[in-house]
Amino acid sequence: MIKKTPANNSVAKLSINNKTYSFPIYKASEGNDVIDITKLHSLSGYFTYDPGFTSTASCKSNITFIDGDKGVLRYRGYDIEALSKNSNFIEVTNLLIYGDLPNKSQLKKYHTLISSHTMVHEQILKFFNGFRRDAHPMAMMVGVMGALSAFYQDSLDIHDPHQRMTASRRIIAKASTIGAMTYKYSIGQPFVQPDNTLNYSENFLRMCFSVPAERYKISPILAKAMDTIFILHADHEQNASTSTVRLAGSSGANPFACIAAGVASLWGPAHGGANQAALEMLETIGVKRNIPLYIKKAKDKNDPFRLMGFGHRVYKNYDPRAKILKETCKKVLNHVGFKNDPILEVAMELEKIALKDDYFIEKKLYPNVDFYSGIILRAIGFPPEMFTVIFAIARTAGWTAHWHEMIEDPVQKIGRPRQLYLGKKKLTYGKKRSSKNTR
Ligand code: ACO
Repeated sequence: MIKKTPANNSVAKLSINNKTYSFPIYKASEGNDVIDITKLHSLSGYFTYDPGFTSTASCKSNITFIDGDKGVLRYRGYDIEALSKNSNFIEVTNLLIYGDLPNKSQLKKYHTLISSHTMVHEQILKFFNGFRRDAHPMAMMVGVMGALSAFYQDSLDIHDPHQRMTASRRIIAKASTIGAMTYKYSIGQPFVQPDNTLNYSENFLRMCFSVPAERYKISPILAKAMDTIFILHADHEQNASTSTVRLAGSSGANPFACIAAGVASLWGPAHGGANQAALEMLETIGVKRNIPLYIKKAKDKNDPFRLMGFGHRVYKNYDPRAKILKETCKKVLNHVGFKNDPILEVAMELEKIALKDDYFIEKKLYPNVDFYSGIILRAIGFPPEMFTVIFAIARTAGWTAHWHEMIEDPVQKIGRPRQLYLGKKKLTYGKKRSSKNTR
């Protein structure tokens, strides 16, 4: 249970039209404290206005902590650096959902439980056949994730903790199988069944890259890089897709449908779609000598061009995930023999120039997680259309953890924002009609 802790009984006072209202302040265990304005409307008749939620905490959470100024990211108290070095994706999903690191036997049992859900119902294969071969893998991911709601009806009672846990395990286990199927379907190769003797990342690589005619040898370096990418993308507190899952879930909706809503939200280029855009930008720049031109474009107020993979709403320092991926990137490129990859050279040089440029320094624009993840995924063998699918597979961990936390929160209510209405006042039907109605 999550407790509200008033910050030394402190209150915030708000004066409107000579009347003063007091609101409790709750202390965060780390980071920003919050003003509880839930009574504002009933006391004063006013709503608050905050498009994009730049100053609004939509919930209380114990899961992930970010300090954007210091470049800190922690899952359940553990630094992302330590987790990416010492843990693995399955353990991280367990940590996010249950709140603590499992011991050895708990982890073994949990791994077996997840593995027991990696296969998908045979009817799902028929479902895939309904898509065009050139469908974007994210379009298939949204559709098939939503379709799971029709298949697993023994885990739909969201008020039963056991059924909720079964639904989460199914979502995490099947996400990688479905993600790999979207890739195989788009390139016209047969689906590859999961192999539960492998770990999560090895299994995903095998389902994507093995073919029945040949033996597939999993590279430990690529499997570790894949696992690092999954760990780094597993959660990021109340981002757009996680907030979408919480909002969809707040009405008591089917868990698989809520996760499909999260996949849909992640697809946008300002969110999970930026990794594809960052790689495409590096390819467009092409060679080091073109960099100054693109830096100039990024700084030009009249040019919509932005350096993709730079800047973040929360991080005003180096994104800690980008730091980790920079090292992973070097290892992967060395391994696959792309040591002198021109794209990596462009990326390194672009980063060097941007970090010394006054415009980027003043606006605190540092490389974000998408800057290096695309290069790594390309070196592993994925086309750019798969990058966001891989992000979605990883984020099923965070989405399900937040979904559990939301349902277990005793103050949980259906999410229902209010608005500042600026439309027409009451009109009489049948009177004057507009000649401008051309839409
Ligand atoms: N290149 C050039 N200028 C930039 C960039 C960039 N990548 N990012 C921000 N700026 C500038 C803006 O023009 C703005 O300048 P101004 O104050 O003179 O108007 C200022 O920096 C602040 O930018 P905002 O867009 O207001 O910042 P916000 O927090 O809303 O946006 C965002 C963050 C969307 C990530 C932005 O930095 C961006 O578009 N980056 C490129 C896309 C990208 O890499 N997205 C991935 C984010 S990470 C993730 O989702 C996993």
